[in-house]
Amino acid sequence: MNSLQNDTFLRALLKQPVEYTPIWMMRQAGRYLPEYKATRAQAGSFLELCKNTDLATEVTIQPLDRFDLDAAILFSDILTVPDAMGLGLYFSEGEGPKFERALQHEADIAKLTVPDMAKLQYVFDAVSSIRRALNGRVPLIGFSGSPFTLACYMVEGGSSKEFRTIKSMMYARPDLLYKILDTNAQAVTAYLNAQIEAGAQAVQIFDTWGGVLSDAAFEEFSLRYMKQITDGLKREHEGRRVPVILFTKGGGLWLEKMAQTGADALGLDWSCNIGEARRRVGDKVALQGNFDPFALFGTPESIRNEAARILAAFGEGSGHVFNLGHGINQHTNPEHAKLLVDSVHELSRQYHSSK
Ligand code: CP3
Repeated sequence: MNSLQNDTFLRALLKQPVEYTPIWMMRQAGRYLPEYKATRAQAGSFLELCKNTDLATEVTIQPLDRFDLDAAILFSDILTVPDAMGLGLYFSEGEGPKFERALQHEADIAKLTVPDMAKLQYVFDAVSSIRRALNGRVPLIGFSGSPFTLACYMVEGGSSKEFRTIKSMMYARPDLLYKILDTNAQAVTAYLNAQIEAGAQAVQIFDTWGGVLSDAAFEEFSLRYMKQITDGLKREHEGRRVPVILFTKGGGLWLEKMAQTGADALGLDWSCNIGEARRRVGDKVALQGNFDPFALFGTPESIRNEAARILAAFGEGSGHVFNLGHGINQHTNPEHAKLLVDSVHELSRQYHSSK
């Protein structure tokens, strides 16, 4: 396999010395880039884009050709797994993801099983193809949704504001939700291990909705199943450690508990101070994120200042991967994204004096 020309991202995740703070942006391939919209139109739809190896490779590389990013992320979606379970994923314009068959009845839940990974072969093919196209330029991140976040979409049948259906199930029939979460955890473990086999050099678990839970429910219904996954993942491949990143949006209160799972790094949204987060987790994990994606709607000067503030709050030494606290918004000016990437590279060098 080709050797990596820039492994700064992987070193930062393992808290090894780096020359500058590496950066990538959640949803870096997406609708804020006109070239993405053009390729998506060529594919016909978002799902067809995910399933077309060449076009999925193309959109993964697009942001790297524009910005000096330190990692690529597989172009796909977290909902490929429930789709492979037979729930019938589709996207209705302007409404986000939907399932034809939401999982709400006991009989359907009893029938839920780990899907045959052959149904997700298009994802593993995309991983291998992207690795070939990257040719060692930067590492490739694989990803999946957390069992709880996947369950939110599976039970609600799409996006939700209140999570009334899944929370009703959680409080009234926890046994049904345990069954879904355990099946999801097994499926995600197999799915991420197959991405690692195909060439993913780090993996991230997106727990986008863990933050809507109470403290006790987060541990019981989200964290526990993310730990089940980290325990089951292949942690070394091609002679290198494959770091695991856990990202719970709104999970700032639970960082100590999350650091106990055996993950290598935790993702932060923008609601906590990264310096305090670092003191709380100590040496256990690296941290990723913290920049409010809407700070990209400020001025060039305010964007630079916000990047400087976060870098200073983290302070000296390795263990920070700069990122947005959530996905980049589709109305973001790409020039502002470029300014952020360049500012982070430039301003972070002072915190990494290679002695
Ligand atoms: O970061 C990247 O560039 C990789 C690609 C990526 C996508 N989805 C592409 C996508 C990743 C990592 C995801 C993860 C994902 N998908 C999450 C977790 C991260 C998060 O944002 O919280 C979630 C919750 C989903 C489910 C999902 N997929 C939603 C809610 C939507 C609609 C939201 C929207 O912005 O319209 C999607 C669609 C989606 N996934 C798009 C992209 C680029 C937009 C689809 C389009 O082109 O129309």
